Amino acid sequence: MGKVYHIGLTKKVVRDARLVLLPGDPFRVGEISKRIDPDATQIACSREYCSYLASSGDNKILVMSTGMGGPSTSIAVDELASLGLKIFLRVGTCGAIQKNIKPGDVIVTSGAVRLDGASTHYAPVEYPAVADYRIVNALVESSRSLNIKAYTGVTASTDTFYPAQERYDSFSGHVLKRFQGSMNEFKKLHVLNYEMESATLLTMAASFGLSAGCITGVVVNRTTSEKIKKINLATGEKNAVKVAVNAIKQIMKVC
Ligand code: URA
Repeated sequence: MGKVYHIGLTKKVVRDARLVLLPGDPFRVGEISKRIDPDATQIACSREYCSYLASSGDNKILVMSTGMGGPSTSIAVDELASLGLKIFLRVGTCGAIQKNIKPGDVIVTSGAVRLDGASTHYAPVEYPAVADYRIVNALVESSRSLNIKAYTGVTASTDTFYPAQERYDSFSGHVLKRFQGSMNEFKKLHVLNYEMESATLLTMAASFGLSAGCITGVVVNRTTSEKIKKINLATGEKNAVKVAVNAIKQIMKVC
């Protein structure tokens, strides 16, 4: 097998890496991979997919961006699985919808409401988007050891940032009837947060017989504010990455 089409990687360059850390943003991959290994190097950069290879003990760890949303995430996961990757750990940001959750806290997704489209091309809507419980446990333990407040539970994972997350501060200001009141409804159903990639990732990995997890840093609490402040973005991103990187050794041990 040569280079896979979109992500520009080969089996040879990923060097038997089993775990891939998946941020959304290509511009954060370098900095995240250097937290694992100061000597991590870039091995490809193609469209929204930027890849670095890092070492953690005897293991190679791949860090690759997914871009935003289900379609680009599905290509990333599909092509990485075909290169032999087995463990997929998304690290990103989210908006909380429960009152008690604060910017800077982290959310460990145990399962996702599938408000994406891409996952329905891999498994029927009745199929659950669930995380590997061993990864959930490792992430919870990692945040406890770092003294970072973590909440574990259900995430609403959407294809759009504006209408499906019931945001009215968009170009048209219009939210389709089916999404009007949806934030309050999900709040009542004890959904913790909104983000845009976990439904696709968790459905694909579970249905492929592979392992996946998702940790996101809270950058806004939608019950009190619509604005994402720079300081909250920085703290949310930083805390999620800290917890994810600190959990890698344990995840490699149990998965
Ligand atoms: N990412 C999302 O998808 N929604 C938010 O509110 C914040 C980050």
